[in-house]
Amino acid sequence: MNIPFKHSATGTTIFTVMSGLATEHQAINLSQGFPDFQLDEKLAAQLHEAALGNFNQYAPMMGLPMLRQAIAQDFLKRYSVAIDADKEITITPGGTYGIYTAFTSFLQKDDEVIVLEPAYDSYIPNIEMNGAKAVCVSLVAPHFQVDWSAVKAAVTTKTKAIIINTPHNPTGAVWSKNDWEELASIVRGTDMLVVSDEVYEQLIFDGHQHFSVLQHEELRERSFAIFSFGKVFNNTGWKMGYVIAPPTLTNAFRHIHQYLAFSVNTPAQYAIAQYMNQPQLPNVGAMMESKRNYFLSLMKDLPFTIHQPALGSYFQLAGYEKISDLPDLEFAKWLTREYKVATVPISPFYKNKKDDRLIRFCFAKKESTLEEAVERLRRVLN
Ligand SMILES: Cc1ncc(COP(=O)(O)O)c(C=O)c1O
Repeated sequence: MNIPFKHSATGTTIFTVMSGLATEHQAINLSQGFPDFQLDEKLAAQLHEAALGNFNQYAPMMGLPMLRQAIAQDFLKRYSVAIDADKEITITPGGTYGIYTAFTSFLQKDDEVIVLEPAYDSYIPNIEMNGAKAVCVSLVAPHFQVDWSAVKAAVTTKTKAIIINTPHNPTGAVWSKNDWEELASIVRGTDMLVVSDEVYEQLIFDGHQHFSVLQHEELRERSFAIFSFGKVFNNTGWKMGYVIAPPTLTNAFRHIHQYLAFSVNTPAQYAIAQYMNQPQLPNVGAMMESKRNYFLSLMKDLPFTIHQPALGSYFQLAGYEKISDLPDLEFAKWLTREYKVATVPISPFYKNKKDDRLIRFCFAKKESTLEEAVERLRRVLN
């Protein structure tokens, strides 16, 4: 049977490719973004309690009230923003689902969405699955700031939305206050919506503060803000997240959500809600910052070029021009095969496969994993 594909991204994601290669060559996997250390035992215990208790049947479509309230309180505490737990928060099976569902709730055929590249790999397929078109604007290497005049030039009468991501995967860049003002000035007076991917909001370093779209009164009115518990509680495999949007957008979102997932894993919602109700949660940002620092200290003598220490996220970019002139995908495959360390090349994060000759390391790993990986890379010198 010949089944036509729904969108242009018919290949396999680079994460699947590199993780597969890592397994094949018994390489240390610094390619995919997930922690290799245990989550907090207290959270695991809450999940156990939920499954043993009466939390095993369908949750309400928008999510357990106790979890939505815990999120609202958390935002009041951390960002001083008031969120209506009933009208503005929807629990989702992860951030990726939140992004797809947000797009699906408003995109029509032939609409355009501006995507800043390099970009997380689901954005463009999600736009195209809706019959819409991704209009790509490159961030400026090697620091990956936004070229706001290029964004402005990309806006047409068909532009329905822009998707943005800070802290940024794959580059570790973080937006400044000024970036938000530039975005506000571009969308002002238009019908453009904003999908603000903030899954790494708590993984931000060197004293930088995450500024959320929810703190920008003007932008908030037209934005879906996307969050993932996986990145905050070191449990990416739970695939739990949430979307915050003003009531009209939340209503549109839930119209789609009710027929896609309908509702989300009840025991996990219970466990996270109970866990969030502790007076003090572990500081995942500080923990990840020390991992970044440790990784960079280990890499200090190696011939990779660090243009800028990651300001946020799980990821550190590195140039390899002193080692090889292979294209980035070939270089990453070679490193996996020959030195048994899997990384991710950056060109697959561009629609046109632009090659900045950079690879991405995930440092959200145990110290021993980072040590072993860098020890293997050290052999590149010989
Ligand atoms: C930028 C970005 N957005 C969204 C996600 C998705 O998060 P989740 O695992 O909750 O679907 C990821 C995960 O890697 C990501 O890097």
